[in-house]
Amino acid sequence: MIILGIHDGHNSGASLFRDGTLLSALSEEKISRKKNEYGFPIKSINSILKYNNISKNQIDAIAVSTKNLPPKYYLVKRNTSFSLQDYFKEQNDYWYKKIYENKHVKYLDVFKKKILGKKKLFYDFSSIKNEDDLSGMQMARKKFYSKYFSLDEKKIYFFDHHECHAYYGYYGRGVINNKTCVITLDGGGDGSNAAIWISNNRTLKNVYRTNIGNLGRMYRYITLILGMKPTEHEFKVMGLAGYALEKSEYYQKSLKIFKETLGVEGIKFKYKKKIKDNYFYFKKKLSGERFDTISYAIQKYLEDILLKWFGNISKKYKIKDFIFSGGVAQNVKATKKILESKNISSIYVPPGPGDESLSIGAVYCYLSKNRIHQNISDMQNPYVGISFRDNDLAFIKKIKNIKIKKTTHKEVASILEKGNPIARFALEPNEFGPRALGNRSILADPRNQDIINLINKKIKVRDFWMPFAPSILEEDAKKNNACY
Ligand SMILES: [Fe+2]
Repeated sequence: MIILGIHDGHNSGASLFRDGTLLSALSEEKISRKKNEYGFPIKSINSILKYNNISKNQIDAIAVSTKNLPPKYYLVKRNTSFSLQDYFKEQNDYWYKKIYENKHVKYLDVFKKKILGKKKLFYDFSSIKNEDDLSGMQMARKKFYSKYFSLDEKKIYFFDHHECHAYYGYYGRGVINNKTCVITLDGGGDGSNAAIWISNNRTLKNVYRTNIGNLGRMYRYITLILGMKPTEHEFKVMGLAGYALEKSEYYQKSLKIFKETLGVEGIKFKYKKKIKDNYFYFKKKLSGERFDTISYAIQKYLEDILLKWFGNISKKYKIKDFIFSGGVAQNVKATKKILESKNISSIYVPPGPGDESLSIGAVYCYLSKNRIHQNISDMQNPYVGISFRDNDLAFIKKIKNIKIKKTTHKEVASILEKGNPIARFALEPNEFGPRALGNRSILADPRNQDIINLINKKIKVRDFWMPFAPSILEEDAKKNNACY
């Protein structure tokens, strides 16, 4: 049985399963080369079908993530096409007028120039009533898939956004016998931004769901207030947080501003003070505060609330093993803090826990709901993309000043030891998710601190404050000489 998974919101992508086993998964941005690609992932679908020698008409069912995709964002490909200025414009010309001036504003009037042409849309928008017509949008998506894949509409299934995040983490890890809790937390999807799930006989029971677990949204708009792209540069804020003086009191004012708005009581989020929005409110309140203290404060706020929330959940359900999925799970510093807590034994964060993995989660939802439990494979490893052949490198060979050399591990180790970084391109399948995990990676010796500046300046052209996280195999971490 062949099942195709589709996610057509931001960070779109596709996955392909045969008899419960994941064959391949790809993010559309890896092929289109457009960050956070939005829309029907035609390139990744075609790639994984071709790579696995499967034709469109062999597909038995399609599992689609996110029931309610807003037409207004789809029509302008919001997260792919927006510049930083567009995000400011969205706040000033749309949200401010709606929230603070009670005016009736149309999103698509504000971004008229960005509306895509018919060919790029794929779906037929003529039957969608308005820019917020969610059910009309779902019908248009379904009709298009049915026609494009010559598949009966009854074999096309839509799954809830958070359920897809949850099942991706649950089955991606591989089902364990211990009672497990899955936490999903993100900027929002299908009307929720936080949820709690408890494992029960190879399925998940949703025990809490809310749309006021605003941690992801707050972090997103602090990113914008600091002049960086929301839903993309949150990791830069996390990196910047490390530069504030932890012992100083400078950050206390910013931290207080965050703390007095939202907290947790038991396993639920609770407003301490209801605020109108997460951008203008904090922008005004944080006026005059330094960029590093704001970064530190939002990170500390996130860590403190998560620590309390996970702790309360652990106590209530007597669970010590957690799975953390959704965009906020990418905050590795917060995960580390939770993991250090006595109440928590383990936290599994799946590869690419943001929306890029929803196409995989949708298929896991389908398999679980159709009780095909026993045969569902886990992720095993994140190398589920597509592999390459020598011929694929022909275009690089034509560039005169690039030398391609096949090397042994010993040669690589010797180059690294001399203080030189190495770009590794393996022919094996590329890694899934935003992290480079070896097959398409820059390698360097972490014992040499200067290597950070060299890579930042010459190779990656990254912001100078971004840290690197050295990695080591778990079994080697205990060796005496493994810590530097
Ligand atoms: Fe999400």
